[in-house]
Amino acid sequence: MKKILIEGNHLLSGTIKIGGVKNSAVALLPTAIMAKGVVEIANVPNISDKDAILDILKKLNVNVTNQDSYFRIDATDIKNTVIPEELSKKLRASYYFMGALLGRFKYAEIYLPGGCNIGARPIDLHLKGFEAMGVDIIKENDKYILTAEHLHGADIHLDFASVGATVNILLAATLAEGKTVIHNAAKEVEIINIADLLNRMGGKITGAGTDTIVIIGVESLHGAKIDVIPDRIEAGTYIIMGALLGDGLIIEGVVFEHLKSLLEKLELMGVDFTIDKDKITLNKSASLRSIDVVTEVYPGFPTDLGQPMSVLLTQASGVSHIKETIFENRMAHTKYLNIMGARIDASLTEATITGPNALRGEKIVATDLRSGAALVTAGLIASGVTEIYDVDYILRGYERIINKLSDVGAKIEIVEI
Ligand code: UD1
Repeated sequence: MKKILIEGNHLLSGTIKIGGVKNSAVALLPTAIMAKGVVEIANVPNISDKDAILDILKKLNVNVTNQDSYFRIDATDIKNTVIPEELSKKLRASYYFMGALLGRFKYAEIYLPGGCNIGARPIDLHLKGFEAMGVDIIKENDKYILTAEHLHGADIHLDFASVGATVNILLAATLAEGKTVIHNAAKEVEIINIADLLNRMGGKITGAGTDTIVIIGVESLHGAKIDVIPDRIEAGTYIIMGALLGDGLIIEGVVFEHLKSLLEKLELMGVDFTIDKDKITLNKSASLRSIDVVTEVYPGFPTDLGQPMSVLLTQASGVSHIKETIFENRMAHTKYLNIMGARIDASLTEATITGPNALRGEKIVATDLRSGAALVTAGLIASGVTEIYDVDYILRGYERIINKLSDVGAKIEIVEI
């Protein structure tokens, strides 16, 4: 067990470099097993969710070598064995092995995925999509046995533009017979990254990044190379920290096209920032204005930035609102912000934040990945020392967060308890 200790109120200056995006990396690594050849993936972030995927690849006898963030995946000797419960439950994205194994072997055995506790998170849309493609699904307690005697294309309409369901159907459809159309597909930029790898491997996919994706199934896939795109959520988190504490803080390696919804809100609040190519420079503002935020599917305001954003809003003058529309429970962190001195009135999906209120260091607990990021942000602006428990959540998705923040002047450390 580890905890994070932060001595707050130190300004941040210098440069933070953004890594590859978690949500692409955890899909690109499973995608690689669909190739009969070597797949090379560069810019893989060093996060514990990536390690959990590597454990599953090892279980499947896939050969993986790496040098820093560059990975070489060779699934020539892959063995399609059941993915055990303890590995599936380590992360949400383990479910991408359903689509990848179905595509390659027309058969997969895997347990229910894990992931952050931010709502019910069913996988019914993934399963409905597979069924439409001819997959027979048997559920034995938490284990799914997926078999396709004839994996074929289908016209699939998603009731909700789910990221996970879109990617899983995309994977299986790439090696199915015939044409699949995904209507109301998720448009997140990570999906373009994944479709790009599949196309480089010999897939025939058009429309990724729009709400209609068309996939013409192919018989087999070959080796290819891809770069993981920059992490817009990691960038957004550090940008919010810079808005609170920047003293010329530079965040480098950002694709601003992916963060328009955040930048529009920061402009409305009066955050002091300038953009130059892939860099943004931030300075702490003397005062910030309150605003309303509604989380939405891409290109709307990302649900994954709602929690860090709520910390920024505690420092704005007036009353702000956040409405979460994607998950059922993304407000657990507000209880801890209130313990630190914030004034937030929250239900499971809405928060009314009155500010500005100075925060003070307290003992607090991360309840999921992005709540953890929010609490780190709060600790950085609090007086005194903040102690954050259950920090494994944070390490799932923010690479070298302690080093990246220490390097720009934060007083932050992680210690064993
Ligand atoms: C992914 C991201 C996560 C991000 C989210 C929304 C990964 C590994 N995680 O999660 O960081 O917060 O997108 O941008 O990429 N739903 C169903 N049935 C399904 C699938 C989803 O009802 O079969 C619901 C979910 O419960 C949720 C909503 O749809 O309320 C969105 O889920 P989805 O887009 O699938 O998110 P994830 O892929 O789990």
